[in-house]
Amino acid sequence: MVSEQSLIHLQHSVKSKPQKQVCKTVLKHFDAQYSEELGEQWRGARDVLLNPLSWQYGVLLNRFSDLTNLKQCLTELGYTNLLPQKHPESQSQDAHIPLQCFIHQDPVRIPTQSHHPGWLKQYYLLNAASLLPVLCLNVKEGENVLDLCAAPGGKSLAILQTATPGLLHCNEVDQHRHDWLLKTLESYVPPTLRDLLCVTHMDGRSIGTMRPGAYDKVLVDAPCSNDRSWLYTPDTHQGEMWLKERTQLPLLQKELLCSALAAVRPGGVVVYSTCTMSQAENQSVVEAVLASYQGVELLELEQHLIDSLSEQFCFAHFHSSVGWSLPLSGSLAQEMNYYLSEGEEKKRKGGARDWQRKSVLSKDRTESIAGLRNGPRLVEKTLK
Ligand SMILES: C[S@@+](CC[C@H](N)C(=O)[O-])C[C@H]1O[C@@H](n2cnc3c(N)ncnc32)[C@H](O)[C@@H]1O
Repeated sequence: MVSEQSLIHLQHSVKSKPQKQVCKTVLKHFDAQYSEELGEQWRGARDVLLNPLSWQYGVLLNRFSDLTNLKQCLTELGYTNLLPQKHPESQSQDAHIPLQCFIHQDPVRIPTQSHHPGWLKQYYLLNAASLLPVLCLNVKEGENVLDLCAAPGGKSLAILQTATPGLLHCNEVDQHRHDWLLKTLESYVPPTLRDLLCVTHMDGRSIGTMRPGAYDKVLVDAPCSNDRSWLYTPDTHQGEMWLKERTQLPLLQKELLCSALAAVRPGGVVVYSTCTMSQAENQSVVEAVLASYQGVELLELEQHLIDSLSEQFCFAHFHSSVGWSLPLSGSLAQEMNYYLSEGEEKKRKGGARDWQRKSVLSKDRTESIAGLRNGPRLVEKTLK
């Protein structure tokens, strides 16, 4: 268990950590690409990427563990809860407790907890922006959910903090990361709930064909060129390799998204997210899939979500005439999210297309978390 003393100790030690080295090859590439794609907004995004001290780590609490003293410790250290603790639409006192993620205005990071068999970890560290796709997925009790690209499991855990699904299918293609995913789930999920988990080691591109229409919700947290880790690769040669591999990602991303659309039931929701600002891996992927996949539409973000996150995130709209708008600002976590849905009615009629590009979500924190600015984009898929 975490003691207040150890938290304070780590708070101090984090501040004295040495700065990471930027890979100049990657930065040069970003300068060329993003100044063209993001225009003036690249300047802010660049500042954020180049200042690791402005990166914020969220502390996602594990509702299945013993949280005695933890919330009080975090509060005394200056952490606050990212989300209101009651669903704004709910009048019921028995409403499900929403996920709890604590954030700090300063660039501090508490320690990770070690794995102990038979003991459940109390929290998971992640960038708060990583929760956006999960919040938008809005899983309800008893729903069947597929996390198509799940390792190391942060978003699967977050899903379990928001609701208890009937089934949570977590898939990961990479053997090592699949093992990591299993370990994550073992460290956070009580044995009594493990029956609702299904963990597979498959290429996500085949799941849509294998399990068509089987899920209410599907999350595609796609493999992407992750701007932040890429920029800090210690090895120039590795940086150059990633540059080459990057061009192949959009095809894989489109195939994963199509698989997700095949796997979701009529009326279900697919969320597509990445942690890059690259247009090729975000709006171009979604637009290409929308253009080739019938009966899918983009939906507005729910107003209560916008309201509850408006202090930490800044929301913008797409320009429908020109497609996707640019993020409002640079992004720290670069979580870009797309929500896609398909109308049952449309499907039955043979799929008249009615694409709407509606919302862009941009995260924008100022001052002490300067640059915790994020430009996630949202598109929803509804099936009525
Ligand atoms: C952005 S990471 C997922 C992070 C995870 N959702 C989380 O929150 O912890 C993308 C993952 O997709 C996996 N992946 C890559 N290609 C895949 C494929 N064809 N099918 C399934 N997973 C794949 C990668 O190995 C990687 O673990």
